[in-house]
Amino acid sequence: MEHLRTQGISLPRLGLGTFRMQGDICRAAVESALGLGYRHIDTAEMYGNEDAVGAAIATSGIPRKELHITTKVWHENLAPDAICRAFDASLNRLRLDHVDLYLVHWPSRNMNLPAIFETLLKLKQEGRTRAIGVANFNLALLKTAVEQIKAPIACNQVEYHVLLDQTKVAKYLAAKSIPLVAYAPLAQGRAASDETLISIGRKHGASAAQVALKWLLDQDSVAAIPKTSRAESQRANLDALKLKLDDEDRKAIAALPKDKRFVNPGFAPGWD
Ligand SMILES: NC(=O)c1ccc[n+]([C@@H]2O[C@H](COP(=O)([O-])OP(=O)(O)OC[C@H]3O[C@@H](n4cnc5c(N)ncnc54)[C@H](OP(=O)(O)O)[C@@H]3O)[C@@H](O)[C@H]2O)c1
Repeated sequence: MEHLRTQGISLPRLGLGTFRMQGDICRAAVESALGLGYRHIDTAEMYGNEDAVGAAIATSGIPRKELHITTKVWHENLAPDAICRAFDASLNRLRLDHVDLYLVHWPSRNMNLPAIFETLLKLKQEGRTRAIGVANFNLALLKTAVEQIKAPIACNQVEYHVLLDQTKVAKYLAAKSIPLVAYAPLAQGRAASDETLISIGRKHGASAAQVALKWLLDQDSVAAIPKTSRAESQRANLDALKLKLDDEDRKAIAALPKDKRFVNPGFAPGWD
């Protein structure tokens, strides 16, 4: 598995998303993924599944340093003392003494970005998170974080897939050597039934979902975190890394509509 190096951490380019999985289903999915070789797990306090993720990690027997665990602070908890409380609770549920990446999950209208990053940096300096980052930051917010506050963000996690253009944000991140972590990389499952992707997949003996993932992972400095509870899809998503797309495939994917945003960014003021 290829890794992206960013702010002192090494981020596996394919991770397991865990949104909408909880309890035993989530625990079993994470156990299965770790058994198949996944080493990057994406969770969040908002998902209500950090305890299940933590249980799966605890029983895996995989050395902690081989794992990359991301969690996130919800937009209602962005006051400095609330971040600290949320972070402690996340670590407790995950049964870990540190996470690898702690993200601001969504921006909020009244957030105080300098105070947020000061708090996150303190957690980093204490070794309780190895790196800090953001999610759902648009270009303006990214510029404030990177250029004004000079926050050492290790990624911006945003919705990105074959049906959504992210050129502006991706170009900015690339110029600053900050990875883009693609969430909803399968357009929340819709990619699996897209006719164009199905026909590209047929040519290569692959599925439409694999085509969608490889299209993302062929881009420099992009990681992806598809969610699936099914072991066969977890394996298929790993196998997508072996697929070789050609220029004709990329041209067909470029011609797909690119305005399909499936996660409501209403919480994230400032999206264009
Ligand atoms: N930062 C944020 O604000 C934010 C927002 C949304 C999501 N995320 C993160 O990103 C992760 C991924 O996003 P997402 O879960 O919304 O959507 P997604 O990964 O694009 O799609 C998940 C859907 O695709 C299906 N699927 C997965 N692999 C497949 C395969 N090989 N073939 C066919 N179908 C497949 C899954 O079905 P089954 O489970 O039935 O297999 C599930 O219905 C989340 O789980 C979460 O960790 C972050």
